[in-house]
Amino acid sequence: MIRKRVGILISGRGSNMKSLVDAARDPGFPGEIAIVISNRPDAPGLAWAAGEGIATQSIDHQAFPSREDFEAALQAALTSARVDLVCCAGFMRMLTPGFVSVWHGHMLNIHPSLLPAFKGLHPQEQALAAGVRIAGCSVHFVVPEVDSGPIVAQAAVPVANEDTPDRLAERILRAEHALYPMALRLVASGAARLTGGRVVIDRPTGDAVLFSPAPEPPRSG
Ligand code: GRF
Repeated sequence: MIRKRVGILISGRGSNMKSLVDAARDPGFPGEIAIVISNRPDAPGLAWAAGEGIATQSIDHQAFPSREDFEAALQAALTSARVDLVCCAGFMRMLTPGFVSVWHGHMLNIHPSLLPAFKGLHPQEQALAAGVRIAGCSVHFVVPEVDSGPIVAQAAVPVANEDTPDRLAERILRAEHALYPMALRLVASGAARLTGGRVVIDRPTGDAVLFSPAPEPPRSG
């Protein structure tokens, strides 16, 4: 098996990056983490990855006169690490259409909502404000529009009466940590393919139903 070389882009704590790193420790995983790059030199995730012996690079966007100059440095780092697939994991920079087109079909992002609902900032707050009973997260191929693009995989979690944005975010984050490695596995192995703007997956989807609230148990007697 040829393992795809994966570059992970982060801006902060990097808990999703950790879940990808952990998954890729399995020699049977179809991807290996070639490099972790942060646009914020002080991102806690960057120090963690370096401590794990993973190649890291800090590319401070503030040091560049334009978005294009920043992205040229990003592209150079990804190329020199011979990256095949890019995973954005809490990477808080908008990417230009030019950069996105170079990685078309080879760049993933994770967003803490069931897309196409609640794009952009504070999706958990948006979900609570909308009163949905089921929230979740999505892994999708990156296109120029933010939090859009063909969806590879989604995970759903129930919304509880007493949820605050933080509580809901924690529940979704646990789902993210399971979802992102699964989605990367599908893409890196070739089981998930982009066809006509949609993702086709060579794998049964399952037919489990998530109810929220849960259906009442049958009455006895
Ligand atoms: C996650 O909720 C991710 O879905 C969103 O930003 C957050 C990053 O968290 N894009 P972490 O840095 O991976 O812990």
